[in-house]
Amino acid sequence: MKKVLLIGSGAREHVMTEALVKGGAEVYVLGPAKNPGIADLASAYEIASVTDLEAIRKYALEVGPDFAVLGPEAPIAAGVADMLLANEIHCASPLQTVGRLESSKSFTRDLLAKYKIEGNPAFKVFFDEEGLSEFFKELGDDYVVKADGLMGGKGVKVSGDHLIGIEEGVAYAKECLEEGNRVVIEEKLIGEEFSLMSFCDGTHTVEMPAAQDHKRAYEGDEGPNTGGMGSYGDADGSLPFLKAEDIEAAAEITRKVAKALFEETGVLFKGVMYGGFMATASGVKLIEYNARFGDPEAMNVLPLLKSNFVEVCEAIIAGNLGELEWESKATVCKYLVPEGYPGNSVKGEKIEVGEIPEGVKVYYGSVDQREDGLYLSGSRAIAFVGIADTLEEAEKLAQSAVGSVSGPVFYRKDIGTAELISKRVETMKKLRG
Ligand code: AMP
Ligand code: GLY
Repeated sequence: MKKVLLIGSGAREHVMTEALVKGGAEVYVLGPAKNPGIADLASAYEIASVTDLEAIRKYALEVGPDFAVLGPEAPIAAGVADMLLANEIHCASPLQTVGRLESSKSFTRDLLAKYKIEGNPAFKVFFDEEGLSEFFKELGDDYVVKADGLMGGKGVKVSGDHLIGIEEGVAYAKECLEEGNRVVIEEKLIGEEFSLMSFCDGTHTVEMPAAQDHKRAYEGDEGPNTGGMGSYGDADGSLPFLKAEDIEAAAEITRKVAKALFEETGVLFKGVMYGGFMATASGVKLIEYNARFGDPEAMNVLPLLKSNFVEVCEAIIAGNLGELEWESKATVCKYLVPEGYPGNSVKGEKIEVGEIPEGVKVYYGSVDQREDGLYLSGSRAIAFVGIADTLEEAEKLAQSAVGSVSGPVFYRKDIGTAELISKRVETMKKLRG
């Protein structure tokens, strides 16, 4: 039996554990909290921070895994794959150098520009204030400011959303420069966002089904940004507002970026290249890359993977990734979150989960299993994924499961509904003219 070390303990890591176990592996998990879903599946479980290199090294040497996989972005950015490789443990996740695809927004924009890869909006990276106001004037009212470098949690601000007018943009950009050492200013893209994740062994990329996440906390895309409240994907591996050529354009960007990454750094990217794309009036544009599975998007795609996930990870490491098989099913994922999430979550309150219908998968996130039941631990708590032949059925399944939970929680009823999806389709129709 293959032994796999998995780093992380959220719902994304729950579905990853499930796929590894289904592939015949014994999974050894290290994460900051005891996830009851992962604990049920794992062979052993170590509680530690996902960026504690020394704790991870000790546990990895004790376990002696065939390979490791990193769930979240933090251990990738902290160089956990590099540390493991130095201890002769290979990872189906990227080394720090190529992990900059996610951890540095300017690195990725510059890479696309240097290798003439389509998909960048107009952008400039600033190290000081010189020319800053002029560039804002060039962009006008539609701009995005992205803190770069080590900014301690501060991030992207979009005009019209978080910032109004050029003056506020300039002021925030200056703040970013004071706190970090650089800031990316770019054109605000108008359209519909979608996630296209690809497995990458350094030279080959293989796309997964597309999904669309919902960042805003409340129905109708209102309220604060969250880690993602839920996501859906259609049975054909695409989304109702996309054309086949949109998926192909996004996949092509990822293929070229994988190649450029190697030319630029001399290091092969191994793992998941998760492109956040925007379908716009002038084609597919890149918003950003992540160097890992999306959370929740992992829960839309991994349950549909018919190929063996353990073998996929081994192929990523060996560099011989080939075609993969997927089930043609629609999926709708709805996250149950504590009242007050994201800014002011209730914690330590008990919840009761009702009847889970057939066709629904349940993935635990930030919940604590005590003797008398499940308690909220403050972040996204449980993901319910409906899987069916159509989006309509998948949405109904997810809805009936998430709606069965009682306690101080909420979720977005509108995710995956015909009403919200037809709005997205209309938006794209109008934009495309
Ligand atoms: P984050 O995931 O925190 O980096 O936030 C990124 C979000 O900001 C994306 O999901 C988009 O909604 C938005 N965003 C980033 N860049 C752009 C852009 N150039 N145009 C429009 N929206 C953007
Ligand atoms: N779906 C958002 C993220 O994983 O970053």
